[in-house]
Amino acid sequence: MSIDFAVTTGGPTLPQERRLVTAIPGPRSIELQARRTQAVSAGVASVLPVFVVAGGGGVLIDVDGNSLIDMGSGIAVTSVGNAAPKVVESVARQAAEFTHACFTVTPYEGYVAVCEALNELTPGDHVKRSALFNSGAEAVENAVKIARAYTHRQAVVVFEHGYHGRTNLTMGMTAKNMPYKHSFGPFAPEIYRVPMSYPFHDGLSGAEAAAHAISRIDKEVGAENVAAIVVEPIAGEGGFVVPAEGFLPELVEYARANGIVFVADEIQTGFCRTGAWFACNHEGVVPDLITTAKGIAGGLPLAAVTGRAEIMDAVHAGGLGGTYAGNPVACAAALGAIAEMRAAGLDAAARRIGELMLPRLHALAERSGRIGDVRGRGAMTAVEIVVPGTKDPDPATTAAVAGACHAAGVVVLTAGTYGNVLRFLPPLTMPEHLLDEAMTVIEDAVTALG
Ligand SMILES: Cc1ncc(COP(=O)(O)O)c(C=O)c1O
Repeated sequence: MSIDFAVTTGGPTLPQERRLVTAIPGPRSIELQARRTQAVSAGVASVLPVFVVAGGGGVLIDVDGNSLIDMGSGIAVTSVGNAAPKVVESVARQAAEFTHACFTVTPYEGYVAVCEALNELTPGDHVKRSALFNSGAEAVENAVKIARAYTHRQAVVVFEHGYHGRTNLTMGMTAKNMPYKHSFGPFAPEIYRVPMSYPFHDGLSGAEAAAHAISRIDKEVGAENVAAIVVEPIAGEGGFVVPAEGFLPELVEYARANGIVFVADEIQTGFCRTGAWFACNHEGVVPDLITTAKGIAGGLPLAAVTGRAEIMDAVHAGGLGGTYAGNPVACAAALGAIAEMRAAGLDAAARRIGELMLPRLHALAERSGRIGDVRGRGAMTAVEIVVPGTKDPDPATTAAVAGACHAAGVVVLTAGTYGNVLRFLPPLTMPEHLLDEAMTVIEDAVTALG
């Protein structure tokens, strides 16, 4: 059966409005969902089964003609907006020239230009090198490979509530069992998990939380065995957990003192999302290696590891790469997305989004006993939903609020080890009137529960 798409072009010219013309999901989405069930593995789930035909600015258009407010950016990817003109132009030009050569066979300039941009934009003014990959998980795996080759050590330290991907090594590095790890073991060895700073629950200062984590590394692993400490500057899938000030700098100091490679996983937090180019910038943290993906290329698959030249160059020639790693079309998309972020000042746009959202979320928390904590930076904000009067997670209420937002035409995502965090990741191109409307829908969904 063929579907007659009502809207065939996206980008910022789409009307920036929330408009529901059917129930959510509508009849055409339901038809497609039936086809999908017959064709697509049941192991691949979707948050909201509306089938998208266009997107741009702050909206997603579905196959029934509904215009939804996008508060998820495809999980922090379309920070420059969907079908952003600079990305589209750059991709179209590159696709017409050549779509693939394989950088490890015959190189091309776009790959080098993306690495130059990453070396310039990432924290620290030391000499850097980069290598490109296809997905965030692949970048994290390669950061571990590089750290092991450099240190000649094996142990990898990760954190509670951490998320690093779905490949075998990164599943092992990820904290949460369901749905990411359950029934998929055994996992790779030499991964050690220590406590993350989680101010709402542990009540510790950054220095205290770091001392706790470091003592665990010393006692259970031994600093001299550790190749890498891998940490998200804000734990993303784990619930937008912002560590207490000082936690990350203390870990960096410990890593430096012990010859450990400090890896910041900025796959979700990077590229202007938190109001700075990278979340490490907020505390002046300079990682040895940084992993990036998601927001880097405006929606095309690209990822990178960037870091100190002596560490990145410690790997033997041919040790890094992949058939599609740093594909020319994805590189062109990244160059377009980076140009757009620079031209439009999207770091400032993210800060503005935070300034608009956080006071309203705090006011909502004042009115509703169901919100235990409000947190985040820039355009990466969240509320943690609890049983009123306690800090106990309430995943059922969280799912109910998300469901009410979806039904009202606002795409929100959940997160958290306990599934009780509502997280907000609007495109940084979201017009203020739409953000305002999305906030009203979210507020209504929370207050309707009493
Ligand atoms: C912090 C972090 N690391 C790694 C990943 C894995 O990235 P990908 O899904 O591109 O493999 C994600 C994805 O959500 C992430 O948020």
